[in-house]
Amino acid sequence: MESIIKGKSHEITTPEEECLTTGPLDPCGIVIFGATGDLTSRKLAPALYNLYLTGTLPDRFFVLGAARSELDDEQFRDRIKKTCAEKDPSKWEEFADHVHYHQVQFDSTESFQELKDALESLNEEYQTEGNRIFWLAIPPSLYKQVARMLGTTGLSCEGDGRHRWSRLVVEKPVGRDLESAQDLNSAVEKHFQEPQVFRIDHYLAKETVQNVLVFRFANTVFEPLWNRNFIDRVEIMAVESIGVANRAEYYEESGVIRDMFQNHMMQLLALTAMEPPSIFDAEAVRDEKIKVFKSLRPLSPDRFAENVVLGQYGPGVVDGEEVAGYRQEPGIAPDSITPTFARLRVDVDNWRWQGVPFYLTSGKALAEKRTEIRIHFKPVPHALFRDTLGLSISPNILTLGIYPDEKINLTFQTKLSGAKVCLRSVTMEFHYHENHIGPILDAYEKAILDTILGDQTLFWRQDAVEACWAYFDPILNRCDEICSDREAGLITYPAGSRGPEGAEL
Ligand code: BG6
Repeated sequence: MESIIKGKSHEITTPEEECLTTGPLDPCGIVIFGATGDLTSRKLAPALYNLYLTGTLPDRFFVLGAARSELDDEQFRDRIKKTCAEKDPSKWEEFADHVHYHQVQFDSTESFQELKDALESLNEEYQTEGNRIFWLAIPPSLYKQVARMLGTTGLSCEGDGRHRWSRLVVEKPVGRDLESAQDLNSAVEKHFQEPQVFRIDHYLAKETVQNVLVFRFANTVFEPLWNRNFIDRVEIMAVESIGVANRAEYYEESGVIRDMFQNHMMQLLALTAMEPPSIFDAEAVRDEKIKVFKSLRPLSPDRFAENVVLGQYGPGVVDGEEVAGYRQEPGIAPDSITPTFARLRVDVDNWRWQGVPFYLTSGKALAEKRTEIRIHFKPVPHALFRDTLGLSISPNILTLGIYPDEKINLTFQTKLSGAKVCLRSVTMEFHYHENHIGPILDAYEKAILDTILGDQTLFWRQDAVEACWAYFDPILNRCDEICSDREAGLITYPAGSRGPEGAEL
């Protein structure tokens, strides 16, 4: 019998090896549209190869690169080899045997019919049971067309005896405003059901971001404090030291709001603010997130000035190197009014968060690259140490570090040793990878695995995409109106600084 004094132990530990893999995966073919592009060579191909190295891909699989260029299998393999095999070439030849290429014209039904035939023969060769993933690593302007072609050639069909499942992975941006997102979603849903569509957000697949929900909902001690009674404000930042790099054309069209806020920042906000779902599954989690998005207080024009700061980097020094200002970057208009920095105060109008501001900050060409969520608790209600310390005692801060510090830390007050009662602020720290033996999954590796598993928990659902555009559309419209005003609308900050004056990090 359990001793009353000792109490009952509830310790449950999952053997670590069990957490490293997902268990058996369905055999499948992975078709990458845009196979000759940057995303494929930088992210997708290395992620697939790493999964292969760790034995995590299904036993039976093939990768089919599809793009407009005329290449053969060998030439395609050579193109991706450098980024894949540079660290560990030991299994490259084995992996490369599964990699093929098919030239495709995105506007030709005939070409998609040929693609279908090629897939049928690869399906026979690799015994992939008709399961297939179509990854859209192509410019967003082609998404609708490719979805339509897949639909009309029957490649989106599922469960028809020969084909068990067919999944479409859509990279961001999903539209550039509410109207275009609805238009894209309705074009896609003509051919694919929502459970077939995986709208990727690589932030959600980061280990430390996934950990936000575990931290909140697998511990008793924090959740009771996670509300307006104890929290003063929340800071969410994802700032970067790199500038626009070689993405001028894309960035001029998007700017920081479309590039970072409508997607990654909104997900970080939702994970911090959402209610606990009843179970950890895709629909339950995404049902709770959409409630957050629908509770966002609209930023009407009369509240804009006090709640939004927009900036654009000028020339400056980053990491000791002189860098050009945004307007001087190659491919950027010399009078561009695209914001590269934004700080927003966001209010979540619900019972839990009423009166707690969420400050969201993101920008390029800043002093450092840092992503974190910082929970600032309220000060103690009564300063009983006022005689020794004056009236103020630093409130507790809980930081969920995502990059570069993958750690959680909590600052609190302790007594400084000595005769007098003096306080000092100290930090309790947990390093996320401490004592961890297994490989760390990169965000794209996790996204690939979840797509094969058919688990949509870490992907955007259509209603959430649209709810976020509905929130940001008026903000974007207002940006267009005010950004030509360099004094009050779009403030220039030196590259390598901490942001526009008054909104520094
Ligand atoms: C991408 C944006 O989605 O996220 C980039 O398009 C940005 O502009 C990047 O640099 C940041 O991602 P991470 O994982 O480096 O924080």
